[in-house]
Amino acid sequence: MTDVASSTQYLKLSVFPTSPYYARVHVRRVLESWHRDDLIETAQLLVSELVSNAITAHAACPEAAKAIPHADPDQIWMDVYRMGETVVLRVWDASPLTPVVRDPHPDDENGRGLHLVELLATDWGYYRPTPGGKIVWCTLALPPPEEREGTIQPHR
Ligand SMILES: Nc1ncnc2c1ncn2[C@@H]1O[C@H](COP(=O)(O)OP(=O)(O)O)[C@@H](O)[C@H]1O
Ligand SMILES: [Mg+2]
Repeated sequence: MTDVASSTQYLKLSVFPTSPYYARVHVRRVLESWHRDDLIETAQLLVSELVSNAITAHAACPEAAKAIPHADPDQIWMDVYRMGETVVLRVWDASPLTPVVRDPHPDDENGRGLHLVELLATDWGYYRPTPGGKIVWCTLALPPPEEREGTIQPHR
């Protein structure tokens, strides 16, 4: 079976500015343990963007987190797992709002994170799990060993 999630590595993160750093460390450790160092740089960039967004969204909706059973208003979570030839990164937050790919003006400082995700991930999206909140996910292909050179490659 190649379509079953395996080796899921879960991490709770505080709604705090240092959490993107811990998410990057987590992703590095997981990919090193899978001997996929070639994906570390790209996966760290992706998880940074998703966790940063989740922290902002979660912090903006404290009431939403309190309404979700077993959710901690001060925590989000992420996980990383393999599904066949794909690495999946997921980040959960309690916010009912949805990710929107912005069209920033050249002078704008914000609004480019999801553009990066679109560029670097094989695919991305979001869904609403039953307990509540939202999971934003993105995928990276696991290229065969001979294609591992040059990690950050625009996918489209
Ligand atoms: N996890 C999320 N929950 C709710 N809204 C989100 C989430 N991620 C992104 N968004 C929305 O999508 C927009 C674009 O995200 P992004 O491209 O990362 O830009 P920025 O974070 O700089 O605003 C955000 O401004 C926000 O409105
Ligand atoms: Mg962002």
